[in-house]
Amino acid sequence: MQVTWKKIDPKDYTDEILAVALLQGEKLPFPEITKTIRKESFEGKTDQTYTLDTLGKFPFKKLFLFGWGDKKDFHTDLIRRFAGVAIRYAVKLKSDRIGLVLPSMSSANTAQSLTEGAVLANYSCTKFKSKKEDVFEVKEAHILTKENVQDAVAHAAILANAQNYVRDINENPANIATPQMLAEEAKKLARQNGLGITILEKSDLKKMKMNAILAVNQGSDVPPVLVVLEYNKHKKNLPLYAVVGKGITFDSGGISLKPAKGMQEMKYDKTGAVTVLGIAKAVSELQLPIRLIAAFAATENLPSGSAQKPGDIITAYNGKTIEVLNTDAEGRLILADTLAYVAEQKPEAIIDLATLTGAIIVSLGRHRIGCFSNDDKLANVLFAAGEETFERVWRMPLDQEYIEMNKGAFADISNIGSEKGEAGSITAAAFLREFIGDCKWAHLDIAGVDHIADSHGYLGKGASGIGVRLVTNALEKLAKK
Ligand code: BES
Ligand code: ZN
Ligand code: ZN
Repeated sequence: MQVTWKKIDPKDYTDEILAVALLQGEKLPFPEITKTIRKESFEGKTDQTYTLDTLGKFPFKKLFLFGWGDKKDFHTDLIRRFAGVAIRYAVKLKSDRIGLVLPSMSSANTAQSLTEGAVLANYSCTKFKSKKEDVFEVKEAHILTKENVQDAVAHAAILANAQNYVRDINENPANIATPQMLAEEAKKLARQNGLGITILEKSDLKKMKMNAILAVNQGSDVPPVLVVLEYNKHKKNLPLYAVVGKGITFDSGGISLKPAKGMQEMKYDKTGAVTVLGIAKAVSELQLPIRLIAAFAATENLPSGSAQKPGDIITAYNGKTIEVLNTDAEGRLILADTLAYVAEQKPEAIIDLATLTGAIIVSLGRHRIGCFSNDDKLANVLFAAGEETFERVWRMPLDQEYIEMNKGAFADISNIGSEKGEAGSITAAAFLREFIGDCKWAHLDIAGVDHIADSHGYLGKGASGIGVRLVTNALEKLAKK
């Protein structure tokens, strides 16, 4: 979809639908229509909608109203939701073009949120449906304001398109999205965006003693990969940052098998890896003044005669020994080798994204991402980025006592901190900490937000792509420091 700024008066808008968002009690910019709307029908309450045929009074045919509720409860995500709901209305009417108006505010920030909401709501995954006749996408959204917001629109379109790119790859189930397929997607991105790329195949991982990745892969019939993308690789004067993702293309639990109910959702256990691709796409298209390493290991986690077994002891890439007490705690194993490998480059900071624990959903539900960090500044930047993008994070503790919980009986560490699952997401984060050397680091447990179960304002059911706008925004902030 093309989003463009138009400096025209809303009353002169000539395409079919004009959508207007109003705070509670706020007056429409068209006095001639205001009288015809009964107060009971539209008061501007939060999420209230109203549509009206303009019956030839205006060049546009339909007026779509969206309520923002009381001014004191206003937050910028309501702007994304307005754009999202308006776009869905245009989709329902099969209308190619729509105008969006915010009478009470007009700035670069609001244009950014409008663009994000519109582009995100216009996406739906239809590639696995054989009947295509119901598929419709809006072609153009016009933002009507006096102020020139063209740059904000272009910036937001890059971010939202990168998020849709993640949703589209992540929606592929495990029979299609194999580790090899993720490597192919990374190659395609590297070619299109001029990134450096290194792909370590199974034989390379063996030579390099990446035994934790190999151990998880043991039960699978398809080989693992470790992919490293590099943006601005040769611009050594720019500060280096790294993002790392968990790429389990299917998590059955392995020998510590998961229950059957809901297991299909474990096709989304590659979300961290795919999100890292989206971040590399956004950062390179925004041309941020940093160097970036975007890395992920990918493998299936399956049970078989060759699968790793509870009690197995392995030596990770950094030399630490791990007792695998539960083969379903596999994400931290593949991340261990990937983080240790990336930490060798000594980046200013490493941010990892992983659908790491069910426990984070118990703690935070599906509204906030768990953030764990050894650096207050980095944690604060991520918090601020979360509030702006509405991909909100909440910092969790990482005290010494939690680190002690992973102490192994037979090896240096165990891959679970407690048989009872106590502090499950914290001990998982504490495990990762063993593999980052002296780097500043933040771990984002995105298990609660990887997919949307019931569609909301601007994201439909399915892979959410949450994390791309968050981490890219954080990197933009770090680049400015
Ligand atoms: N991929 C799962 C975590 C997960 C659970 C993501 C639910 C999304 C929704 C992870 O590999 C896992 O299985 N973790 C275990 C850890 C346990 C064995 C210590 C868990 O959370 O139960
Ligand atoms: Zn698991
Ligand atoms: Zn997993």
